[in-house]
Amino acid sequence: MVKICCIGAGYVGGPTMAVIALKCPSIEVAVVDISVSRITAWNSDHLPIYEPGLEDVVMQRRGKNLFFSTDVEKHVSEADIIFVSVNTPTKTQGLGAGKAADLTYWESAARMIADVSKSNKIVVEKSTVPVKTAEAIEKILTHNSKGIDFQILSNPEFLAEGTAIQDLFNPDRVLIGGRETPEGQKAIQALKDVYAHWVPEDQILTTNLWSAELSKLAANAFLAQRISSVNAMSALCEATGADVAQVAHAVGKDTRIGPKFLNASVGFGGSCFQKDILNLVYICECNGLPEVANYWKQVIKVNDYQKNRFVNRVVSSMFNTVSGKKIAVLGFAFKKDTGDTRETPAIDVCKGLLGDKAHLSIYDPQVTEDQIQRDLSMKKFDWDHPIHLQPVSPTSVKQVSVVWDAYEATKDAHGICILTEWDEFKSLDYQKIFDNMQKPAFVFDGRNIVNMDKLREIGFIVYSIGKPLDSWLKDMPAVA
Ligand code: UDX
Ligand code: ADP
Repeated sequence: MVKICCIGAGYVGGPTMAVIALKCPSIEVAVVDISVSRITAWNSDHLPIYEPGLEDVVMQRRGKNLFFSTDVEKHVSEADIIFVSVNTPTKTQGLGAGKAADLTYWESAARMIADVSKSNKIVVEKSTVPVKTAEAIEKILTHNSKGIDFQILSNPEFLAEGTAIQDLFNPDRVLIGGRETPEGQKAIQALKDVYAHWVPEDQILTTNLWSAELSKLAANAFLAQRISSVNAMSALCEATGADVAQVAHAVGKDTRIGPKFLNASVGFGGSCFQKDILNLVYICECNGLPEVANYWKQVIKVNDYQKNRFVNRVVSSMFNTVSGKKIAVLGFAFKKDTGDTRETPAIDVCKGLLGDKAHLSIYDPQVTEDQIQRDLSMKKFDWDHPIHLQPVSPTSVKQVSVVWDAYEATKDAHGICILTEWDEFKSLDYQKIFDNMQKPAFVFDGRNIVNMDKLREIGFIVYSIGKPLDSWLKDMPAVA
């Protein structure tokens, strides 16, 4: 029986291994992590991450060929294939701070693999890492190998949170990069055989190591670039009276461009886009390519601009001050169908409003109060460090209350900011909400999900990203 071990039981490792276990009953899969609380949760009825369809898959295979454990060394030493899916945050200090990936977790995982291995291993990079990390890892492993053969593969993950299980069931492609030696090719084939249980062969692409590593960064940079492109257009739409949804629809009808990933929003978030682009920028700079670095940096700058623009819109519409005013924030996760808040635009928007002394009442169906308080008091780039390495009780931000209902959040509020596109926000009783708010009552829709006309009929002043402006808003320009 082939044995797989995955180091890191997070958003990537957990769902990916659960699906491998489901699709390959003949393979034993162990997911290991240094975090006791995370592993306890994976073994309980309350999984540590919210992901539609995940619970069903885990319950089908847990205890059969899918195991979650903190006994990292035992499972690593027994495995034939080891996936490494530990976090790779942005460095917060030292060389490359604010840009380069912090490979501390990766390096310690690699050293541990070298220490405990007694048989040949295939080591698979699953977390996004800078190009040429595989080479560094290879060096750590071979210099400590005691005669054991380690083959390094890069097998980047393209799943998106909220749709992870579907993405894993039907991937557009699976990418496997490895060495062009006979041993490297053999390792590629072994991993290919795993995926071939459910993925058609022609969708499994094999490349050299560096192409696979760079493809992941490139794919995320291209995706984020589309959002920054449409968000940049949204500012121009507001200035000219065009409607960004109509523009995006018309542009996306060109089959060379395509319709997906053209939704204007308050900004992109998530654990990948910003981190991977910062990484790309750093790699370009290190390779003497400042023009290329600046080109990609702009994608992040436009994203920051979009978040600032949103805050300015809110403040300027409300007579240039939100000081002491209650603002309801609906949605805190970086997108719907996840409880993940890493790099969510809600953090910057809330901090911006708090900077103007607003009182925030936040509701998100999947994010806990503790997480929100942690996010709002955390330093930039600390977000991707495991919770157990963060301060135990962050000082809570006093002007913030977290409630468990949209009606409670909006009661007596002056304005509502919709920051995540949860489906339930589309069907709220907005008349009831309006009746319980201060007047004039504002809705700032950062995800373009509400029916503007209906809300205006009720009496709201409505702002949606990139849409023709209410006359009220036109008279109160948001100067960035
Ligand atoms: C992304 C990539 O899609 C995935 O392939 C990669 O492996 C990891 O990074 P994820 O971050 O989970 O996945 O979510 P994604 O659906 O890409 O959304 C990222 C952000 O962009 C979200 O904040 C989302 O709201 C925003 N977004 C997305 C838009 O603002 N507009 C769009 O049209 C699409
Ligand atoms: P991702 O979104 O990439 O899956 P997460 O932060 O959700 O990232 O998961 C990474 C996991 O890796 C965390 O649960 C963390 O505790 C774990 N981890 C980090 N370093 C190690 C290590 N050396 N051994 C085992 N697990 C580790």
